[in-house]
Amino acid sequence: MNSTIVLLPGDGIGPEVTRAAEQVLRAVADRFDHIFTISEHAIGAAALRRGGPPLPDETREACLAADAVFLGAVGDPQFDTGSSAGRPETALLQLRQALGVFANLRPARVWPGLEDGGAFKPERVRGADILIVRELTGDIYYGEPRGVAEDGQSAFNTMRYTRPEIERIAEVAFKAATGRRGLVTSVDKANVLETSRLWRSVVTEVAGRYPDVRLAHQYVDSCALLLATNPLQFDVVLSGNLFGDILSDEAGAVVGSLGLLPSASIGGSAGLFEPVHGSAPTIAGQDIANPIGAIASAAMLLRHSLGAAAEADAVEQAIGETLAAGYRTADLLPAGSAATIGGARMAQEILDRVHRSS
Ligand code: IPM
Ligand code: MG
Repeated sequence: MNSTIVLLPGDGIGPEVTRAAEQVLRAVADRFDHIFTISEHAIGAAALRRGGPPLPDETREACLAADAVFLGAVGDPQFDTGSSAGRPETALLQLRQALGVFANLRPARVWPGLEDGGAFKPERVRGADILIVRELTGDIYYGEPRGVAEDGQSAFNTMRYTRPEIERIAEVAFKAATGRRGLVTSVDKANVLETSRLWRSVVTEVAGRYPDVRLAHQYVDSCALLLATNPLQFDVVLSGNLFGDILSDEAGAVVGSLGLLPSASIGGSAGLFEPVHGSAPTIAGQDIANPIGAIASAAMLLRHSLGAAAEADAVEQAIGETLAAGYRTADLLPAGSAATIGGARMAQEILDRVHRSS
């Protein structure tokens, strides 16, 4: 296999976890005899510091020409006060739109042995295995009009969804549920919002095409509670862009650490793969960050964009074996306990196991 992969390290802990993902991709190329042509480009605050926009044209073009794109993280407190155009996060929103990746898959499962490290009671979370299917290129993130009134005394955003946008993301969720436990929980706020009422009716229509999948509707507030109190009841969680953003961070708490969660954004030209955690500026550059979310995102890249299922399985298995051997970064342990290893060593343990995989 001969594939082109673009790496966008970005900001905060982005570069260190991207390095871990890159090492694992190179280990896979080596172990399975593939040629991956890997190039690196600037995005976010890293691009702003060079004096350009947060998503330089050169970066956008490289992404559009690639088979797959891996992003570390964007976001930097130094640029927090700017307008949308000057913010690192804007680059990511523009990139998702440019690639047309409307479907964001965020699997959240509790790895055996990690039930004790998180905030929830182990018996509540043991065995939880959730796939959040988040719509990624619509909703209040992109709705027009948006802006700040001239006098600066009010600001506005528009929550908007069209039927085709809802239909295509619902299709992704129902297809995914078919290969899993056959339950889609659709999240909305239909007791208040028109967009949510449209959402509910389109999702119900799509459900009619999948007689083997059960559909449940859940208001987002109640879904947030149930995710914390009874995560085992969920299989596929289908949501719009904003609600999915919020619930996927909560899913990080369910599995023990946000640092474990990978994501795949698909449905467009090239897939975009990123850990869910974000730039975490306060721990950047200290070898504290857990690389597993990034490495698991690399596994999703192999599976979804390169059609390399055995390779993806090997990476996921290497993560499982490393955790089973007892290695823990600080985020995987109860508050106050000492980490057994740093992020770089965690990555090394995983890639040694990829090399040894049969
Ligand atoms: C995520 C992030 C992004 C989002 C930010 C960085 C723009 O929180 O991928 O979950 O809101 O989508
Ligand atoms: Mg988020």
